[in-house]
Amino acid sequence: MKEITITMPDDWHAHLRDDAVLKETVPASARQFARSIVMPNLTPPVLNAKDAKEYEARILENRPANSDFRPLVTLYLTNSTTPEMIREAKSQGIVAAKLYPAGATTNSNNGVTDISLMSPVFEAMADCGMLLLIHGEVTDGEIDIFDREKVFIERYLVGIVEKYQNLKVVLEHITTKDAADFVKDASANVAATLTPQHLMLNRNDLLVGGIRPHYYCLPILKRNTHQQALRAAVASGSPKFFLGTDSAPHMKGQKESACGCAGCYSAPAAIELYADIFEELDALDKLEGFASFYGADFYGLPRNSKTITLIKEKWKMPSEITVANDNVIVPFWAGQEIGWRLK
Ligand code: NCD
Ligand code: ZN
Repeated sequence: MKEITITMPDDWHAHLRDDAVLKETVPASARQFARSIVMPNLTPPVLNAKDAKEYEARILENRPANSDFRPLVTLYLTNSTTPEMIREAKSQGIVAAKLYPAGATTNSNNGVTDISLMSPVFEAMADCGMLLLIHGEVTDGEIDIFDREKVFIERYLVGIVEKYQNLKVVLEHITTKDAADFVKDASANVAATLTPQHLMLNRNDLLVGGIRPHYYCLPILKRNTHQQALRAAVASGSPKFFLGTDSAPHMKGQKESACGCAGCYSAPAAIELYADIFEELDALDKLEGFASFYGADFYGLPRNSKTITLIKEKWKMPSEITVANDNVIVPFWAGQEIGWRLK
């Protein structure tokens, strides 16, 4: 196969950041995606409908002239989120809210400290049809970083899904066989997003022969058996698994550091990386469902009508991208070959 045309995809999990960086991130996402679910972990976070609408406007200022890219900005749940805030946001077109356990990842210090206190908020979300997006990791000091997703599922997610059966839940950027199995066996109201890095790599790639800071993201890459389970999940063509890049830029100096930030910036070649993965899996026929149908269906949003075409042609991810004020981002897969190119 030399060329494939698919319905224009959407990204159901992206970090566009704010201010000057939007000049880079918004066009990079818009080149391939019709819509992106935009994460609210800014400093300060996107706490209510007003913050979300203002952030959406800043994103739209950076949309390329000929693009109709739609950012779907999400709310950041905190201990102070109220059912009224949820209903107000829903009435203004906000489709989802994100649960970060406090301290789980980049800019999550304002996250929820006690999930059991979120009942009124989860009930309001189930009631008005707002999706709950979850960063599924416990933050307990005693729990090993490689076990944090599995323990979150056992300790919290099983209970949430059981208690709020009408709540639509997306377990974001899954990294383990435990998560893939949990989602597969759960009700139709539970789904998961998968990133390029967790499908392409495992923790050996991160750590053997030298530490690779540009492969460091949260939840952290797991062992090979987990990577294989994630690959099998997407190759299965199950509609519960769909595209979410978790594209999350950090400046070069913040990644290549004694205490480096978590996050991989994949937007400049995201759909191409997924095409490589699906080709390796001999499942290119499943790419369109994963990238363009299942997420929209799960969110209850219309599928896109435009298409994109990918050509089988080698190119390389840039090794560095210069953004505002001469800051540099080293993207995911920097300088490495990609087999498909967006036409
Ligand atoms: C994300 C970020 O940098 O905002 N980092 C990451 O490693 N994935 C936050 C997140 O999604 O966990
Ligand atoms: Zn993320």
